[in-house]
Amino acid sequence: MVPKLLIDALVEAKRVAALTGAGISAESGIPTFRGQGGLWEGYSVEKVATPEGFEKDPAMVWRFYDERRVNISKAKPNRAHEVLALMENFYDMWVITQNIDGLHSRAGSNNVIELHGNIWRVKCTECGISYYNYEVPLREIPPRCKRCSGLLRPDVVWFGEPVYDMDKAYSIAESCDVMFVIGTSAQVYPAAYIPRVAWSHGAKVVEINPEETPVSSYADFIFREPATKAMDEIYKELLKVFQEE
Ligand code: OAD
Repeated sequence: MVPKLLIDALVEAKRVAALTGAGISAESGIPTFRGQGGLWEGYSVEKVATPEGFEKDPAMVWRFYDERRVNISKAKPNRAHEVLALMENFYDMWVITQNIDGLHSRAGSNNVIELHGNIWRVKCTECGISYYNYEVPLREIPPRCKRCSGLLRPDVVWFGEPVYDMDKAYSIAESCDVMFVIGTSAQVYPAAYIPRVAWSHGAKVVEINPEETPVSSYADFIFREPATKAMDEIYKELLKVFQEE
């Protein structure tokens, strides 16, 4: 059941945003990080997701990312990604994601802020160039820069590194009318501040997550459901209203 008050807020809204995390891609077959079967369960975060871990053993880190690239290459955007893309027809719509899988863009979203980078982009540790590389699996591990032959790293944000485009994300949070918070445990900062900022600037916050998170304590609406089900329900209700108008 989609609350009428949420539909009312969505009918009034001009700018809508979503903060997404690994949970939105779970139904596309990409594992989340925390909890049972999570990606961090079998790996040491310090080894594969820090600049120090990469410095020590770039080949090992690249094998980890190469495996993830192979998995992600087989995944398709799901209904939740699709609905966020379709919402661009109605709103000044923004997706702020912690995911590096690129599925929002593949679903058709144009305004995507990738706070933690993108697994399909590589960055040279020598000359600093960053470019897309879709080779799966990688022929050479660790891969080398096509310009200067320097060591490449995944263009993703590791622990201890600044996230991308945080100023833009804050400005969207401060100015949106509704913010969806989908499939994130809201434990990693600064991303976890974003819905709080939106809420404190008057946006209605909608949490979509089968589990309780710190966002649950202030969210205006909560769907304890998988992302595809909740987003599909919300979109259908929204279409009914917009098509009647
Ligand atoms: P987490 O793995 O911490 O959390 C995933 C969330 O998705 C959990 O709250 C689940 O309950 C929820 N979830 C699972 N299946 C779902 C479904 N079908 N629909 C909706 N929700 C579902 O992932 P993130 O919050 O994205 O950072 O993690 C944030 C950051 O921590 C990641 O970007 C990564 C990680 O360490 C870096 O690598 C820098």
